[in-house]
Amino acid sequence: MKMNLATLTVASTLAFNVPLAQSSDVEVLHWWTSGGEAASVKYLKTKLNNSGVSWTDFAVAGGGGENAMTVLKSRAISGNPPTAAQIKGPSIQEWGDLGFLANIDSVAKANNWDSMLPAVVSDVMKHKGSYVAAPVNVHRVNWLWANPEVFRKSGATIPTTWSDFIVQAKKIQDAGYIALAHGGQPWQDATVFEAVVLGVGGADYYKKAFVDLDMSTLKSDTTKAVFKTFGELRQFVDANSPGRDWNVATSMVINGKAGMQIMGDWAKGEFKVANKNVGTDFVCVSAPGTSGSFTFNIDSFAFFKQKNTEDTKAQNVMAKEILSTDFQKVFNLNKGSIPAKLGMARTEFDSCAHDSMDAFVASSQTGGLVPSFAHGMAVSEAVSGAINDTVTNYFNSSLSPSEGMNQLVSAIAAAK
Ligand code: BGC
Repeated sequence: MKMNLATLTVASTLAFNVPLAQSSDVEVLHWWTSGGEAASVKYLKTKLNNSGVSWTDFAVAGGGGENAMTVLKSRAISGNPPTAAQIKGPSIQEWGDLGFLANIDSVAKANNWDSMLPAVVSDVMKHKGSYVAAPVNVHRVNWLWANPEVFRKSGATIPTTWSDFIVQAKKIQDAGYIALAHGGQPWQDATVFEAVVLGVGGADYYKKAFVDLDMSTLKSDTTKAVFKTFGELRQFVDANSPGRDWNVATSMVINGKAGMQIMGDWAKGEFKVANKNVGTDFVCVSAPGTSGSFTFNIDSFAFFKQKNTEDTKAQNVMAKEILSTDFQKVFNLNKGSIPAKLGMARTEFDSCAHDSMDAFVASSQTGGLVPSFAHGMAVSEAVSGAINDTVTNYFNSSLSPSEGMNQLVSAIAAAK
């Protein structure tokens, strides 16, 4: 057939419109179900589809991922794990030790992951020296999100220390708003507690007490002071907070019902989905007293051993796509986090992301870069469960700071 411009156009239109044959499939477990989270994960699905890999969604709702991890365990134990699952931090080591995870060194070597990732990230992705997981982002957890109009109307200023937080929160409350938008779920209580630990105790205390689990540091006046401040926050949370999802709490700041939320920067994904702009519609600042520090929470997909080569091939495509420049950019613009990959252009990211990028680098030089214990980056699941339980119990009671501290010390001692 003689080719002319018309046939060429038809041929190329067909080539672009006909999807690539879906030779393989990945089943992916995650807990990204809020507006911002869903927009983020959708892009991974699109990228894989474009590479000929179809996506079977295995979403288990529940912020912080506790529900997802429970479901994952039962699937894995019954011998039917997904292709990949959102698993983070020390848990990756626990799954690796049990022999479940696939070695993806061939993808990592071919794409130079060792030189494209900061060591603090790549270390977490390896089990016994081999890559078994791929990082999608770096979340900063120690953030305060504020509605500037609520602040203006209340005559309040953005707090920079926890004692100032109490003063400003009272002004917001007196003006008729909810001062602290909060969801009463254990992981959210722990997220706020973690910010108080860092703001009141500082990074060295944080690491000794909540990473090294040093008992004399845990049983100290600093821990008592942390519980005191944390207990003072009870008065700023509304009566409907029990069980509330984190994104519903974020929407209270977005809608001007509440002044502030203490939450990781996945909250920014919700502001973005609601078409809100940083500076005018919302403000992001580091949580009180934590400006020189960075509590990191790296989301990653760990890969499970597969029974056939087609599935292994699809898994390798997924691993490769995750570290592509395009994916790291678009995913993180939606998710509120910053790319895990080094050397990415900053221009399309907003000022919150720029602050986060700067703080990540600066804090890694000063010792202020600390793993989030509320988000599974610092301690085993057993210890973080013990911390969450104690912290929630304290926040929902009238226990004194000393009682809170003693319960925490005993719970950690029993779990570690
Ligand atoms: C995850 C985030 C997620 C958040 C709320 C965190 O533990 O790292 O990716 O957006 O939980 O679900």
